[in-house]
Amino acid sequence: MNSDIIQVGARLRRARRVLFITGAGVSAESQIPTFRGATAAFADGLTEDGVPFEAALSGETLRRNPALSWKYLARLELSIRGKTPNAAHHTMAALPSPERTVWIATQNIDELHQRAGSRNVLELHGNLRRIICTQCDYSVRWETYEGRAELPRCPECRSGLRPDVVLYGESLPGDVLGAFADEQQQGFDLLFSVGTTSLFPYVIEPVLAARRRGTPVVEINPEATPVSHLADFRFAAAAGPMLQQLAAAANGSTA
Ligand code: OAD
Repeated sequence: MNSDIIQVGARLRRARRVLFITGAGVSAESQIPTFRGATAAFADGLTEDGVPFEAALSGETLRRNPALSWKYLARLELSIRGKTPNAAHHTMAALPSPERTVWIATQNIDELHQRAGSRNVLELHGNLRRIICTQCDYSVRWETYEGRAELPRCPECRSGLRPDVVLYGESLPGDVLGAFADEQQQGFDLLFSVGTTSLFPYVIEPVLAARRRGTPVVEINPEATPVSHLADFRFAAAAGPMLQQLAAAANGSTA
């Protein structure tokens, strides 16, 4: 077995607190297109409505032209509909033990970490199945968008509904950021960055903070990212099989 795998396995075995920062790459093996992949599918970066994907999915467009935003939100929902957790989600979900706490800070809005059984999941970008009113406190869960109105209205105040996700130009949920900051304050023994392009400060800063504290950083991503040079261990590999190998090394077996 590769010596990096053995070393990360040994650290994982001893770790009491582990943080995973995850992105779209973790769900790629569940056949959910990554964000960059989905955007690249549009020639010259424009949707068929002639606006960039990011503009269609911005908070401003949702206010000015909700029908346009809902059209692309519905496509996102279609891309996660019926999809199930893969080996990466399952391996992370199996790691907690009485001695080991695992936190997952994810940019994914597909809920696959929770479906695999993970408990401490911080949804930095929200959740596509949680629907909220844009004006009042109404909220509801939609298991699917199938059969829903194209421009759904709140049954209580008749204002527009929206998914509880962070759209472009919007702030992250304060309670989730607060919980993430609290957990980082307590510190981690090991940090994994898995399947994310690491473009946003709130996923880069925890890696920098880990480095300052001397916490080992592991990156799993077939492509190099802005945090690759900060990683103590870097695996240019798909998340599922790689995490299975690392978990097996931690358990003292081979995968
Ligand atoms: P991206 O789509 O930017 O990046 C996916 C990453 O996963 C890339 O770095 C790929 O190299 C990597 N990848 C692909 N297949 C993989 C596999 N099988 N195993 C491991 N890694 C793999 O997704 P995110 O970084 O999650 O934000 O993007 C973050 C955010 O960008 C999204 O949440 C969205 C978008 O702007 C908002 O909607 C606010």
